Amino acid sequence: MSTSKSVEQKLDCISHSEAQTQRLGLRLGTLVSPGSVILLEGTMGSGKTVFAQGVALGLEVREQVTSPSYTLIKEYQSGRIPLYHIDLYRVGSNESLWGLGLEEYLEGGGVCVIEWARKVRDFLPESWLMVNIEIMTDTKRTLHFESEGERFLKILHEYRRLAFGF
Ligand SMILES: Nc1ncnc2c1ncn2[C@@H]1O[C@H](COP(=O)(O)OP(=O)(O)OP(=O)(O)O)[C@@H](O)[C@H]1O
Ligand SMILES: [Mg+2]
Repeated sequence: MSTSKSVEQKLDCISHSEAQTQRLGLRLGTLVSPGSVILLEGTMGSGKTVFAQGVALGLEVREQVTSPSYTLIKEYQSGRIPLYHIDLYRVGSNESLWGLGLEEYLEGGGVCVIEWARKVRDFLPESWLMVNIEIMTDTKRTLHFESEGERFLKILHEYRRLAFGF
């Protein structure tokens, strides 16, 4: 995993509302493909689940996407690709990640969206996208996007054009 990132691998943007964060997720959801892994970071209530709901809309998932905090993993099969929404808040460490079957989700033919993703570092595929959501005020968030690997370099490039026109 590289530590210094190029400009191309990063994107920061501001969201002024829940709806806007959901739209940012939606646009990303239209660009991902089987095997894509999106890592969501940010403190409680920053908007990780809201963003994940947007990704689900972009995948045309018809069911309502709710926080998987208690179940750890929720699968949605109604979209154009399966969505695995994972929340590791309650998981302690890498050791306790074994046995959850995470590898199978990560290597499966779906899209993984993982909240509290830093706990899963050891299991990551060679390309992924991290979205770190920072709380600025009650309604304002900064979303920091960072890609790793070829696949998400391309997706982030496309996303930048689609969402911001540059
Ligand atoms: N710009 C914004 N973007 C996203 N959510 C916002 C924004 N402004 C306010 N909110 C509110 O912040 C909350 C975000 O909740 P959400 O469940 O998505 O957070 P989370 O990061 O998933 O938290 P947790 O760590 O508990 O899973 C919601 O209540 C939402 O209405
Ligand atoms: Mg959440």
